[in-house]
Amino acid sequence: MKLENMEIHVISGACILGLLIFRVLWGIWGASTAQFHRFIPLPLTLFAYLRAAASEGMQRIGHSPIAALSVVAMLLALTFQALTGLVADDDVYTTGPLIEYVESEFSEWATAMHSTNSDVLLGLMALHIAAILFYKFVKKRRLVKPMISGYSDDYDPKTTIENPLVERPIALFLLTAAVSAAIPYAIFNWVGY
Ligand code: HEM
Repeated sequence: MKLENMEIHVISGACILGLLIFRVLWGIWGASTAQFHRFIPLPLTLFAYLRAAASEGMQRIGHSPIAALSVVAMLLALTFQALTGLVADDDVYTTGPLIEYVESEFSEWATAMHSTNSDVLLGLMALHIAAILFYKFVKKRRLVKPMISGYSDDYDPKTTIENPLVERPIALFLLTAAVSAAIPYAIFNWVGY
């Protein structure tokens, strides 16, 4: 990575950390289709879904159990990437803001993991794009718009499992966004560096 890109890298990393915090908090108290306990499947639910989906072409509003696994994998891998970045050291120019709080061996390990995990992220991204293309061209369902807007108009009421969306007040959204932005801001400006 070129040195002049590192500033952009660190700012983007801080933004991604904020987005991750938001997603985790929204997964706890956000809109119903975002809540982890509602969409992360138990193994039996996953198995039953796979059988029903294979035999009847079932859909559900929000994340399907198999898509939920991809959400969890992406969130875990991105969180690991952002957290290891906080204590990474390129030995030349850039360090994570919390580097002074950890032993140098831990920082070395985290830096190596930061590099290895970036390949894991690329793999997950490729899988994610492949799944979107599969749904678009084989299943004839568009997933990008609902991922961005939260709304989809290609549900067939005959094969869709009831799972109504319960929204949350805008004030709660704004408060969650403010907390999520404040944490990385504090880490990069007050706690670290
Ligand atoms: C989730 C967001 C992030 C992604 C996707 C990401 C990705 C990457 C990648 C691909 C590299 C190059 C690894 C290599 O040399 O093989 C790198 C290096 C680095 N990143 Fe991040 N990063 C993220 C967040 C952060 C954050 C928040 C920091 C904190 C300041 C950070 C600090 C660093 C440092 C210091 C290096 C250089 C490490 C070295 O020399 O090997 N990163 N990052």
